[in-house]
Amino acid sequence: MAGDEGHEAGAGGSGRPSKFFGRRKGKGLKASQQRLLAETLPRLQVAADAPIADPAALFDAPVEQVWLEIGFGAGEHLLVQARADPAVGLIGCEPFVNGVAKVLQAIDGEPALGRRIRLFADDARLLLDALPPASVDRLFVLFPDPWPKRRHWARRIVGPETIPAFARVLKPGALMRLATDHPGYLRWMLFHLTVAQGARDAFDWLDEGPSDWAAREPDWPQTRYERKALAGRPTYLRFRRRRAA
Ligand SMILES: C[S@@+](CC[C@H](N)C(=O)[O-])C[C@H]1O[C@@H](n2cnc3c(N)ncnc32)[C@H](O)[C@@H]1O
Repeated sequence: MAGDEGHEAGAGGSGRPSKFFGRRKGKGLKASQQRLLAETLPRLQVAADAPIADPAALFDAPVEQVWLEIGFGAGEHLLVQARADPAVGLIGCEPFVNGVAKVLQAIDGEPALGRRIRLFADDARLLLDALPPASVDRLFVLFPDPWPKRRHWARRIVGPETIPAFARVLKPGALMRLATDHPGYLRWMLFHLTVAQGARDAFDWLDEGPSDWAAREPDWPQTRYERKALAGRPTYLRFRRRRAA
């Protein structure tokens, strides 16, 4: 999905510079999708131009946990998770408007979901900055763009800039699920999460062997990108935010 368009104005409306480098738009949007983006997105959009005091208060329904998915693509995983547990509120972050429109269509057909889903249609880094510390119970970053060329590694959404932000917003004991099919990005993720100073003290890697990282858990649905898995075999990683860093 990654393109090379970078630093366009986002739909997030935060007013701060975005470091997002992927595609904002794909094929033309249908009139019904344009209507949903114009009319429904503003109601569900998280404002990140000021600190968010309490993410659980963003939802119309009372929620016991707040989960965050970064780069939800077409939203298959986000929607399955939202349907699975009525006690969970999900914030989905995705700057690609066609993906956002897909989720809005699903919510249009199933309005109850709109009570427990909020969207941020811009660079996840802007949202991470606005979230309060220890406020998220679960984080998903599934098949993020691998940016294979060395000169683009700084664009990777899982890396030395964002991992401290993940650690900051996750509650002690919170789960973080990552997936990639790109061997180079897998090595990068593991290095920055388990070897690099700082992060290795913030997270415990829960997978013990290939039988863990080669398979998804039953509550971890397949994503659209995973079905294509262009670069190789998918690897699934589970980390837990340490209680005392
Ligand atoms: C390869 S796709 C994977 C999509 C989905 N997770 C899946 O598995 O089907 C990566 C997604 O991350 C999104 N993305 C890239 N940079 C991002 C950023 N800075 N913040 C939020 N999402 C981002 C892209 O727009 C794209 O939809």
